[in-house]
Amino acid sequence: MPIISIRDLVVEYDGRRILDGLSLDIEHGETMVLLGGSGSGKSTLLRQILALERPKSGSVSVKGIDITRCSTAELKSVRLSLGVAFQSAALFNSLSIEDNVALTLREHTSLAPSIVRLVVGMKLAAVGLADFGKLHPQELSGGMKKRAAVARALALDPEILVLDEPSAGLDPIVAAELDELILVLKQVFQMTVIVVTHEMASAFRIADRIAMLYQGRFALIGTRDEIRASQNPRVRQFLDRVPGDTAKTPALAGYFEKYLQSQEPNE
Ligand SMILES: Nc1ncnc2c1ncn2[C@@H]1O[C@H](COP(=O)(O)OP(=O)(O)OP(=O)(O)O)[C@@H](O)[C@H]1O
Ligand SMILES: [Mg+2]
Repeated sequence: MPIISIRDLVVEYDGRRILDGLSLDIEHGETMVLLGGSGSGKSTLLRQILALERPKSGSVSVKGIDITRCSTAELKSVRLSLGVAFQSAALFNSLSIEDNVALTLREHTSLAPSIVRLVVGMKLAAVGLADFGKLHPQELSGGMKKRAAVARALALDPEILVLDEPSAGLDPIVAAELDELILVLKQVFQMTVIVVTHEMASAFRIADRIAMLYQGRFALIGTRDEIRASQNPRVRQFLDRVPGDTAKTPALAGYFEKYLQSQEPNE
């Protein structure tokens, strides 16, 4: 059974149709990358998967529970298996980074304070922020904030990790490191990961499948190879903006290479 099952999902804002009958199954342990232009409804779709908004029609099932119709108690239990890092990080500015992560643990578990500290340390280390826990969000760079948001999303060891543009605004090296982290989470914890990204290199590095939103529908859902080979004009338009090779090189090496090339004077 798919861990997430979306059927005929329709979302409208003020009568304007944003999602126009989407259906998508996401399998347990799969990394699904959502692509699509700005305003195509990617964040809207994520809000539906998180049951933060109700659709006009259609259903979203998470672990077999239709979250568009379930009880509050069921919703609560489903939410515990979802870890989220929103597009805008959405950290509490009055709290240090470690307290931002600890808050989730204190809210949802009865772990002893010493264990909470241990877990927080592990999550911050996982995103490369081990030495920055005492800082407040406003003392961090944009990229560090993003990584702190990912650490918080990981706090409860979620079965499903939802990341809205985790690498937007990050320097290429840090973005590539985030990709590697996602791959590790998938391999080690069999986490199901849903990622919105505009970074094609990242999409091709981490995705098992890619779903591309266009005008409220999926223009294509497929594996990396299927997306690469697609002749769908919407998909081509999206892909051909970047050199094809970038998608094939391992993220880190590819980025280094590109960076170094950009530093060389033209011959
Ligand atoms: N709460 C809301 N009320 C009204 N309109 C909304 C609301 N949220 C989103 N929209 C509209 O829905 C459309 C899709 O927005 P959404 O944020 O899902 O796009 P997106 O694909 O995530 O874009 P981006 O890549 O820029 O983040 C946009 O036209 C937006 O104006
Ligand atoms: Mg968005």
